Amino acid sequence: MAVEFNRQKLELALEERQNYTNIFSSIHIFDTVSSTNTTAWELLKAGIKPGFAVIATTQTSGRGQWGREWDSPKGGLYLSVALNSHLEVNHGYQLTLASAWGIAQELRDNGISVGIKWPNDLVLDGYKLGGILTETKVKQALITQAVIGVGINWENSTPKTGINLQSWQKNQNNLNFISLEKLTAKIIQGIESGIHCLEREGVDILLSRYVRLLVNIGQKVYVNNNRGTIVGVNPSGSLHVRMESSNSESVTTPYIDLKPGTISLGYRKTS
Ligand code: BTN
Repeated sequence: MAVEFNRQKLELALEERQNYTNIFSSIHIFDTVSSTNTTAWELLKAGIKPGFAVIATTQTSGRGQWGREWDSPKGGLYLSVALNSHLEVNHGYQLTLASAWGIAQELRDNGISVGIKWPNDLVLDGYKLGGILTETKVKQALITQAVIGVGINWENSTPKTGINLQSWQKNQNNLNFISLEKLTAKIIQGIESGIHCLEREGVDILLSRYVRLLVNIGQKVYVNNNRGTIVGVNPSGSLHVRMESSNSESVTTPYIDLKPGTISLGYRKTS
């Protein structure tokens, strides 16, 4: 089924959002694009000022993390936002962490109990509801512009590890269904509140909030056949793991940091 955006309803929903400096003030809606991230970069190149969102009904070459393809049939929500940034290049991942926290928190505030699976997945009942892909333009070790792309399973079919929001809503006793337009506005507001938190309150506060919604805290992982426990995430987005030291005499701190993309955590049910 095609996702039909009612532009007027979307604009009304956007007006209702809290004013986090209104980072994204204009919306460009398309039917089919190769990737909303690509369209956002093209609009920037054409001189459109950062501070806008791009939405499409379907993508022909949707991009996922780690060079993967993001299957983008009709029925899913495909959204990208473009913004200015002044982050150091090695802090770029903070934009993904900020967006993941902001979106998850915003949806939770609206009765949708979304958690975060490190580093960039939005999960619901232990299944993947959506993901985030941030791309950046860098000049002299500083990020100057960023495009943050979000894909959400709305009413499209998903792989076994996925879940779509419409079927989840139908299984809830709550009659307070969120519409596609409201969901879109909440996601844009979530990104705005995440970026606002990062810029105004700093990365330590952001991380403390991100970690509270992280479903992986306490999860056991194996690194080179040694067992460890996930205890946090550091400012570059790496996973902080406390290793079980086999040598009780060891004086070295048994903590390691794993960069995004170096370990896959799989899906598991959340409580
Ligand atoms: C992931 O791998 O989990 C991240 C997926 C991000 C997909 C979104 S859909 C909108 C935007 N356009 C793209 O090509 N990718 C992102």
